[in-house]
Amino acid sequence: AAESGLAGSHGALDVVMEGLRRLEYRGYDSAGVAVLTPEGIQVRKKSGKLANLTAELEASPLPAASTGIGHTRWATHGGPTDENAHPHLADNGRLAVIHNGIIENFAELKTQLLAAGTVFVSETDTEVAAALLGSIYRGEGAGDLARSMQLACQQLEGAFTLLAVHNDSPGTVVAARRNSPLVVGLGEGENFLGSDVSGFIDFTRRAVELGQDQVVTITPDSVEITDFFGTPAEGTEFHVNWDAAAAEKGGYDSFMEKEINDQPQAVGDTLLGRSDADGRLTLDELRVSPEELKSVNKIMVLACGTSAYAGQVAKYAIEHWCRLPVEVELSHEFRYRDPIVDANTLIVAISQSGETMDTLMAVRYAKEQGAKVLAICNTNGSTIPREADAVLYTHAGPEIAVASTKAFLAQITAAYLLGLYLAQIRGNKFQGEIKDILADLSKVPDKIQQVLDNSGQIKELAQLMSETGSVLFLGRHVGFPVAMEGALKLKELAYIHAEGFAAGELKHGPIALIEEGQPVFVVVPSPRGRDSLHAKVVSNIQEIRARGAKTIVIAEEGDDAVKAYAEHIFYVPETPPLLAPLLTTVPLQIFACELATAKGFDVDQPRNLAKSVTVE
Ligand code: G6P
Repeated sequence: AAESGLAGSHGALDVVMEGLRRLEYRGYDSAGVAVLTPEGIQVRKKSGKLANLTAELEASPLPAASTGIGHTRWATHGGPTDENAHPHLADNGRLAVIHNGIIENFAELKTQLLAAGTVFVSETDTEVAAALLGSIYRGEGAGDLARSMQLACQQLEGAFTLLAVHNDSPGTVVAARRNSPLVVGLGEGENFLGSDVSGFIDFTRRAVELGQDQVVTITPDSVEITDFFGTPAEGTEFHVNWDAAAAEKGGYDSFMEKEINDQPQAVGDTLLGRSDADGRLTLDELRVSPEELKSVNKIMVLACGTSAYAGQVAKYAIEHWCRLPVEVELSHEFRYRDPIVDANTLIVAISQSGETMDTLMAVRYAKEQGAKVLAICNTNGSTIPREADAVLYTHAGPEIAVASTKAFLAQITAAYLLGLYLAQIRGNKFQGEIKDILADLSKVPDKIQQVLDNSGQIKELAQLMSETGSVLFLGRHVGFPVAMEGALKLKELAYIHAEGFAAGELKHGPIALIEEGQPVFVVVPSPRGRDSLHAKVVSNIQEIRARGAKTIVIAEEGDDAVKAYAEHIFYVPETPPLLAPLLTTVPLQIFACELATAKGFDVDQPRNLAKSVTVE
């Protein structure tokens, strides 16, 4: 879910709607707005995408107002209906509240409020929070909205960002956050709130990060922050270095297509300025000293979704370069098993958004156990990098399409830099070798560009395959996570059943799935080099072809031998095997995007998903 709020501009509705348009990728099950007019609060809300709300506003316009709040929802409590859409009203329609997160003690609070006579019109936990705030406002809060919000938050459990407006406080929006994201935007004679900076990027680049458990009150010319007990607090101001244009489609039909095409730059920018002419890595920004990193004896990568596959790639590189054991685990699994971590464990939390609740909870748990946490993140001002001991930002720019593409390549790039840095400070590698790998990495953006320039053939194949019911993906070594990511993209975008397997594992079970005509993508490793797995993968291809599989091969330029085993073959430029995922992933992304488009699906906002999942 996402929230946008504004105090102080005559076109409040337009500003809030623009914010929601930019934040819609965070959830799109329903949308709603509330504006404060001299006659009181007015609300419009609608299930479905933001376009439905826009149509509703045209059919039933709202009067001009200078204060407003808006919300797009990813349903948790209660289905995506008009009634369950936010804002929710309380205090006899005088108070409007929107919420992102899950209020864990909502049932208990609801029972109390029902007993006191509150009537609920939705099934949401948000309405419970609104009713609680309303009753405190009438009672102990004595008509002070900020104070009432503090008192309400003391009673709420779980994760929440709340925004509230009240008839009695024109020009004021009060917000609170615990575990869920919220950033303040500073304007001239107007101030903003957003789930992330894209909510106000059209209006200001000055932003303020909030801490955990804080309440913020914005008016046209003031921003006041306190904790839940009213003690004043300071936010940290930062400058947003994305511009609004970076968050536009720039001539492409979809954000996904644009972001796939942004990848040479995403990788290039992530490498930029992080090493000197002698090939020494200069990651001074990390906030953790080389001495501390030297004491690390185990790395655990924690992430979810696509970011977890970036972690799998990182494992191969870091173990090889640094001779340090690396485990990769899904954050939600790590958190609830009794993992063994201590002060010598380095947790690497990978998250594009920096807000994924599963990863945030895993980070907190690891810190409690004494581990050091380093975040690889794409979003400035987000929670995970703020709570981590160290941070390495990816510079992919804003990623809007829900399924991740450019952030994935940027995460892999950042993980390579981290691996090389650890090798440098631990003395695992000669400076010359590090310099050579960095030189290879610096050539990758141009090579990705070549893959993009030659994507005609893979797009044609995607269109031909638009009726396919199931696709398998195989890979070995770093090609294994690439295969899983290729399958995930196809599930997410085209809703096709797809699985990625380790090619060597095939014969231990999945080969039973192969029947006449089954399409199988195979990520083939380079035939060069002493330890090449090329021959092994070719054998795997033969095993499945003998059983009727139709093989679609991603191979390295010059690998003529594999042609004989492929129905279709797509070449990527030569690169050292460990770096190959930066190239081999790209045709798989293009395939999924093109196929989903051919089926008429919205590739930017696939069904049921949200970009930033801020609930566990
Ligand atoms: C969601 C998105 C995925 C993403 C995952 C992790 O499920 O739909 O595309 O990979 O979250 O997100 P993060 O922001 O932590 O990288």
